[in-house]
Amino acid sequence: EENVREKINQQFEELVATLPSDKGFLVPTLINYKGFWCTPGSVFKGVLLMQDQFKARSTDIFLCSALKSGTTWLKALMFATMNRSKFQLATHPLLTTGPHNCMPYLDVHIIDHDVEALPSPRLLSSHCAYFLLPKSTRESSDCKIVYICRNPKDMFVSHYLFAMKLRPPMLPPISMEEAFDLFCRGVCEYGPHLDHVLGYWKASLESPGKILFLKYEEMRKDPVKHVKHLAEFLGKPFSAEEEKAGVIEEIVKLCSFEKLTSLEVNKTGKLALVPGMTIGNENFFRKGEVGDSKNHLTPEMIERLDKITEEKLKGTGFAF
Ligand code: A3P
Repeated sequence: EENVREKINQQFEELVATLPSDKGFLVPTLINYKGFWCTPGSVFKGVLLMQDQFKARSTDIFLCSALKSGTTWLKALMFATMNRSKFQLATHPLLTTGPHNCMPYLDVHIIDHDVEALPSPRLLSSHCAYFLLPKSTRESSDCKIVYICRNPKDMFVSHYLFAMKLRPPMLPPISMEEAFDLFCRGVCEYGPHLDHVLGYWKASLESPGKILFLKYEEMRKDPVKHVKHLAEFLGKPFSAEEEKAGVIEEIVKLCSFEKLTSLEVNKTGKLALVPGMTIGNENFFRKGEVGDSKNHLTPEMIERLDKITEEKLKGTGFAF
């Protein structure tokens, strides 16, 4: 174990020095690993560790997403759905624990925790591109993956505003125009965003029983329908009695933007995002609106990104 970590540490230093780099929104530099952008610090180390050491169990459940695509919301919904027989609503852990603390990021958690010690079924998450997930998760087990995507314009705006809140003040500022240009060239954490989405989209077409592909916008329209489907996919369908008793609606209400943002834990609670960086839970909640990007992007920006998106998606059968 120690040797493997040492080897990865060494490999890590050598690798980082050779990889192409560009500017980040939240951190000064991103590095490009096998076509995808990551922060060169501990997260990247976690990705290498995860690939080397993680062994999937058939009962594992993964939530995967690009940044700012509805991860926090889906963490809450999946946690509440999977554990619904364990907890009463009045004393539900989500009332006192932030959604991110209910479902760890595997690539962060594995850096200083023993993921083998987590009881089954493990609920884990990652922002990694599909092909960067551990091999055993993708290939050799029955574990499930739920992916959520969001339209690139809203995702970009959410990402940029999130980064502006958390970008260390000693770094030079980065304008929305500059960040947008980077984003259009595919440069953003865990990006290129469209490749991220298409990677999971294609995998979900190949393995529909293993990968559930969700869209933030569609979930916003009809969360009850999607939570019902989610439970079926996860092998925990709601019974007729549960449906009659309004359990799905209760879960949707508990995890709603309004409810979560009203809780003290999501106003003042904290999350250890990566080792050495703790941020306030409130940063994960802003507006939760579909189409808010039109209030931030110019018509020219919208036209540019729409065009890039259209060209990239041509022939894939996928549309946002
Ligand atoms: P906005 O910045 O557009 O408001 P992630 O969780 O992947 O980081 O995504 C964050 C986005 O999801 C933010 O979008 C945030 O407001 C929104 N969000 C957080 N909790 C939500 C909830 N319970 N329901 C709907 N949207 C939510």
